[in-house]
Amino acid sequence: MCGIVGYVGQRPVQEILLAGLEKLEYRGYDSAGVSVLADGEIASVRAVGNLSKLRAAVLHANNGASPDAAAHGGTAVAVAELPVTSGIGHTRWATHGRVTESNAHPHFDTTDRVHVVVNGIVENYLFLKRRLADIGADFTSETDAEVIAHLVSHHMARGSLVEAVRAAYAELEGHYAFVCMSADEPGTLVGARKECPLIVGRGDGEQFVGSAIPAFLAHTRDVQVIENEEIVVLTARGVEFIAPDGTPIERAITRVDWDQSTAEKGGYETFMLKEIHEQADAVAETIADRTTRPDGVDLAEAELDESLLQGVDRILILAAGTSFHAGLIGRYAIEEWARIPVDMDIASEWRYRNPIVTDRELVIGITQSGETADTLAAMRLARERGARVLACTNVVGSQATRDADGVLYIRAGMEISVAATKTFVCQVAAMYLLALRLAELRGTMDRAQRTALVAEVKQLPTRITELTEGLDAPIKAAAERHADADFYLYLGRHVGRAVALEGALKLKEISYIATDAYAGGEMKHGPIALLDESTPVVCVATDMPILDKMISNIQEVRARGAHVIAIATEGDDRLEPVAEEVIYVPRTDWMLQALLAVIPLQLFAYYVARKRGLNVDQPRNLAKTVTVE
Ligand code: F6R
Repeated sequence: MCGIVGYVGQRPVQEILLAGLEKLEYRGYDSAGVSVLADGEIASVRAVGNLSKLRAAVLHANNGASPDAAAHGGTAVAVAELPVTSGIGHTRWATHGRVTESNAHPHFDTTDRVHVVVNGIVENYLFLKRRLADIGADFTSETDAEVIAHLVSHHMARGSLVEAVRAAYAELEGHYAFVCMSADEPGTLVGARKECPLIVGRGDGEQFVGSAIPAFLAHTRDVQVIENEEIVVLTARGVEFIAPDGTPIERAITRVDWDQSTAEKGGYETFMLKEIHEQADAVAETIADRTTRPDGVDLAEAELDESLLQGVDRILILAAGTSFHAGLIGRYAIEEWARIPVDMDIASEWRYRNPIVTDRELVIGITQSGETADTLAAMRLARERGARVLACTNVVGSQATRDADGVLYIRAGMEISVAATKTFVCQVAAMYLLALRLAELRGTMDRAQRTALVAEVKQLPTRITELTEGLDAPIKAAAERHADADFYLYLGRHVGRAVALEGALKLKEISYIATDAYAGGEMKHGPIALLDESTPVVCVATDMPILDKMISNIQEVRARGAHVIAIATEGDDRLEPVAEEVIYVPRTDWMLQALLAVIPLQLFAYYVARKRGLNVDQPRNLAKTVTVE
């Protein structure tokens, strides 16, 4: 996720902003920038790459020549020599638009009087962009975020910065947090929050704002949380919280006793747990502006020309590890909804079997890092042999994006823990979107069906939150009961098999316990020999057309005396009689249930590993990306 920092006070601002951004580096970024108010003008510096590049650019600007200011017609300001005491900064993890200086934040309006830093996503930015361009706004980036600078500027014609932010907020749809400043109101920062986090740090005659506490922890431990759907106004004297309708809100100051490392983890004990809890936000970003139409999904964007999806009569999905499991769910969704036959293979197998592909085939390479050697090699081979290739990845500018004809970004933000969690659910969400789009293009689903499914997809973030908030404690208790087992079997059928495979991978990867995962119907053909009273068997038994068959498999497991932990759909009372433990996930469309069903399994693996005292963020023998042949 991107990082925001803002400061207003008496001290020189540049170093505070740069040091604050450095404390947010752990969140991952590909470009960064700062804007400061000096002598009635806003000076802005942005740079692609790491923060040392930004520091160098700032130094250059301080010597009197801001390349960025010059580029957008602003004034180059030698800010080091001026009493510059308010400003905003940002680290960007690209989602909309490439990694370029003009796409880096802060973004600014046509007059260069309003600057803004934004996290998250503005769903209706295309609509707003067209409207603002029609009345003269000059857009200089490919981002959704820039629209906020123009919108606030537009509303400032009729009011103060805070009134303009309130008016803009009323028009913005999405999932975002932003902070803006205006050259016409020096010494004031105004922020707004809709879902994405934003937090205030209180000082003596100075105030801070950031997307996370590490941004200002070196200066203050007194914080005020900006709640969802609130606007905040910061001046050196103090901070005011208001509702979008202008009603003032009282907000207590709380003191945090976190150290830097706890603050980076947002108060969670590990990055993995933090990332499991970030899944609702991550999925919201993945689906946001792609589901603004009630009866369908729109995927066309700069790096995905939808003609790539037309005329496809066969699909092949290639991936490794967790990404392969996301692809398996994608396979079921595409076949079910779009009625296109989908083959799947492990990239490291497919590339060595002299594979056959045709130009009527779409090959989808799923790789969150965009750098896994086997997946990249398989994608390149598919292209050489005539197939069109779509990359599904989290990293803008990664090798996979260069080896593909189109890119479907998953927008999960940086994942620090080695075990993939939020990138997995975002890959699955992206597969659902693709399947729905293909269904519409091929006419295999009528409008009513599409409308119902899009509505369910939009509910996924809420349901994920219900799960991560509601199930954390009970799953911890269940995991601790079983943490001594030395072997686990995971079973599932149809889409539940993909979930079982992912649950088993997660447990073995972070707890070093032997696991196996099987299609429920295959169990009697061998693996059943492994079962006895000591074996926990995790059975994915959420709502699906062949749930009855899965229940029969569970009965076979029970006949061997093994202990069944079932993942079932809320309201389904068929599992209680056949399983010792049942964990319920919220009811939704049965295909979408797969995304929800994996979350208890992530938490389960996590708490088993923690009970065993293991470092889940860095499991042994694993690296986040595999680039070595
Ligand atoms: C498991 C995990 C790995 C990756 C695999 C592919 O938690 O993270 O199995 O899924 O190494 O990585 P990407 O998606 O980067 O190609």
